[in-house]
Amino acid sequence: MDFKEEVKDRGKDTETVIKKYMPKEEGLQKTVIAAMRYTMSAGGKRIRPLLMQAVYQLFGGKNQLIEPFMVAIEMIHTYSLIHDDLPALDNDDYRRGRKTAHIVYGEAMAVLAGDSLLNYAYETASKAFAMIPVSSPDDVEAVKEELMVRRNVEAAMQVLAKKPGIYGMIGGQTADVELTGSRLNSSQLAYIYENKTGALIEASMMIGAILAGADDTEIEKIRKVAYNIGMAFQIQDDILDETATFEELGKPIHSDEKNEKVTYVTLYGIKASEEEVKRLSKEASSILQSMSGDTGFLINFIEYLVHRKN
Ligand code: IPE
Ligand code: IPE
Ligand code: MG
Ligand code: MG
Ligand code: MG
Repeated sequence: MDFKEEVKDRGKDTETVIKKYMPKEEGLQKTVIAAMRYTMSAGGKRIRPLLMQAVYQLFGGKNQLIEPFMVAIEMIHTYSLIHDDLPALDNDDYRRGRKTAHIVYGEAMAVLAGDSLLNYAYETASKAFAMIPVSSPDDVEAVKEELMVRRNVEAAMQVLAKKPGIYGMIGGQTADVELTGSRLNSSQLAYIYENKTGALIEASMMIGAILAGADDTEIEKIRKVAYNIGMAFQIQDDILDETATFEELGKPIHSDEKNEKVTYVTLYGIKASEEEVKRLSKEASSILQSMSGDTGFLINFIEYLVHRKN
């Protein structure tokens, strides 16, 4: 299949899976659920669930065990966007082509919608435990298999708990917010990018590998691939903040300038930034090329991210 068609097809399937797991707007909490659904359903590129699924398949994963985790990572990412846009952080009025959650539902409800998505992500991911086939006690092989899958789900839950937190996304956002206005050095900038953006991409790809039963060496290789993709992705985001249009991005342009953020682009310029996106992406692809299995889709996907316009 043509790569573009394949991304489109996979994207559609991801939307179906997300819809299946979203809570219904009902009860006295229906406003917060409406706000969760508002930002989740606004679209977005869904790159984290797509990467997760592609890695799962690379390591031979075939069943639906991955689905609750695909939805969970997108919920966590969406919560991070809702909070990132709040007046106390980047103070942006548009996201995914729509007014941001705090503009439509008010700040209190946007804070709660972010909290709810974070919490519901774990409620959703934990549904994977009930999907593990229960083996008959006299079938030794089946018991072993069940135990192994259970351990994989536990390990995936641990990554899903750690990477969005203080040793990951929140760590990066904290430094991003706190160091705004000061002249960053390159190691501070690298810390921010690896964490605010890289951590969720690392989590996505590592979870795909873990659930498919990859060994520790393979998981570490995939983490490195994800690290490179994450750094490239954030630098590209900074470039687009300067070079794209609002219509292309669906979020405000020049948000970094407005907030006086030091970015890779302000430090090194557009041209060097574009070179760095290419270098990091090449590094990611070459690690994949050194691995066995069908890495074609992932390598094409990395190339597609380099040339993205939104
Ligand atoms: C935006 O992420 C925030 C960054 C980490 C740069 P995406 O560019 O993946 O946003 P959506 O999900 O497509 O809206
Ligand atoms: C976002 O970085 C990282 C998050 C954890 C949300 P940015 O602040 O650059 O993301 P955008 O440009 O608002 O999407
Ligand atoms: Mg930000
Ligand atoms: Mg922002
Ligand atoms: Mg940005």
